[in-house]
Amino acid sequence: MPQHRPGRRARRASASPLFTPHGTDRSTRKAARRQLAEAQAKARAEATSTSGEHPPAEQEMPRSAYPSAGRPGSASARGNRLRLPAHRMTTAVAAGAYPFLAEGGLGADGIYIGRDVHAEAAFVFDPFTLYGKIDGFTNPNVLLAGVIGQGKSALAKSFALRSVAFGYRVYVPCDPKGEWTPVAQALGGTSIALGPGLPGRLNPLDAAPRPPSVVEADWAGEVRKRRLLLLGSLARTVLGRDLMPMEHTALDITLDGVVKAAAAAGRTPLLGDIAHTLAQPALLDRAAGTVSGHLGEAARDLAHAMRRLVHGDLAGMFDAPSTVAFDPATPMLSIDLSRLGGSGDDTALVLAMTCASAWMESALTDPRGGRRWIVYDEAWRLMRHGPLLQRMQAQWKLSRGLGIANLMVIHRLSDLLTAGDAGSQGRALAEGLLADCSTRIIYRQETDQLHAAASLLGLTSVETEAISHLSRGRGLWKVAGRSFIVQHLLHPAEQTLFDTDSRMH
Ligand SMILES: Nc1ncnc2c1ncn2[C@@H]1O[C@H](COP(=O)(O)OP(=O)(O)OP(=O)(O)O)[C@@H](O)[C@H]1O
Ligand SMILES: [Mg+2]
Repeated sequence: MPQHRPGRRARRASASPLFTPHGTDRSTRKAARRQLAEAQAKARAEATSTSGEHPPAEQEMPRSAYPSAGRPGSASARGNRLRLPAHRMTTAVAAGAYPFLAEGGLGADGIYIGRDVHAEAAFVFDPFTLYGKIDGFTNPNVLLAGVIGQGKSALAKSFALRSVAFGYRVYVPCDPKGEWTPVAQALGGTSIALGPGLPGRLNPLDAAPRPPSVVEADWAGEVRKRRLLLLGSLARTVLGRDLMPMEHTALDITLDGVVKAAAAAGRTPLLGDIAHTLAQPALLDRAAGTVSGHLGEAARDLAHAMRRLVHGDLAGMFDAPSTVAFDPATPMLSIDLSRLGGSGDDTALVLAMTCASAWMESALTDPRGGRRWIVYDEAWRLMRHGPLLQRMQAQWKLSRGLGIANLMVIHRLSDLLTAGDAGSQGRALAEGLLADCSTRIIYRQETDQLHAAASLLGLTSVETEAISHLSRGRGLWKVAGRSFIVQHLLHPAEQTLFDTDSRMH
């Protein structure tokens, strides 16, 4: 399309001066028409004089009358052959006349994703580069939603694979399908598989190495706070309710006692130690000292909740020293939880995810750790679990300070609504996560989901229509309010590595 002429015209607010007439003025066109009429008249006269005949009757037919079949030729509008003259306008006018079709792009810095379908240009994206560059881009977090098999995980894996080239690291704290393991291996990273009978162990009470900038005493306080938060989350997940004040006290006192004893024995505290202390009311009452009352009695539920982690279906996995040390230099780390939670009850998965993310967090909170992606694939399975959402939200809020971009993958926008009833804490947390994602990528949605998607994301009717017709790998990208339709392009090597359809063939 023609560009604005530089100078005064380019600054005008009104669109009308931007229309470019055909480059001739009126008198010239009039003169040309007259010339043409004269030439035609001359030609007709010459034809009549040479043949000596009258023109055929049909030529004398008035111009306004057409044959009964209608107007002949390409202007008949039949057979899909309507030809209209090309309409020329500037990109400034086009953006107003056809909102959403013409976007300026996000610049050339970043990870190559694929093709911007409307602009017919390469599309690159890097949340860290865009931060502070475009208005409204307030955080690096990304939400990715789409129906099954549309290529959500493939896109997340491309993000991971391609951003490793930029020196970013990738952590996948929860991989319920085990599909990230080949990617981690291909990138020279680590994958830890957890499940009954597997050798992998993670001790969620591992203390992170102290950053040099933090003094010893402050760090001890921080480690204690994180451990308490973790124990609280685990207990709430198993109990399915909030903790009572006395239960909080019991956890507090138990943790201090266990940490002290472990330090004296020169080892790290374990969840088993916590469960063991909680299960002994007399010990707990004695340890509580002045606040003791019936603390041991009040901690009974808590003791049973902790028991599940130590002796129940998760036995062993989180109650032993970690079998792998967290290596912050590894390009990618994924935790394969595919052996857990296949039975429809996601509690085991959520507990494992809580322990795994606590274990990872202790390393992630190093602000000098560089830029990192944390990928929550299949996050829709985690939405119903308030304590986990709370942890995720804390992570989300810290993202800018730590240089972390969170990527949450869900099926439909209404997954966020399953976190609780309107006005409940769970719902508020889930909506908070959405609000803290400046980038939303929407893959195809089912027709009955369009309304929820449109209202949660504030989509226009054109965008809502578009997301119901997207094909595999193609998504609507809303980046800080700007819209793109992007076709994610896979390299053949990626295609092989990311293939999740192989069992279907
Ligand atoms: N852009 C693309 N081009 C070609 N093939 C693709 C593309 N994206 C994904 N695929 C293929 O589609 C298949 C399904 O993709 P993927 O597993 O990423 O879907 P998904 O949306 O994560 O599904 P689910 O909801 O089941 O997790 C994979 O085998 C992948 O190789
Ligand atoms: Mg997937």
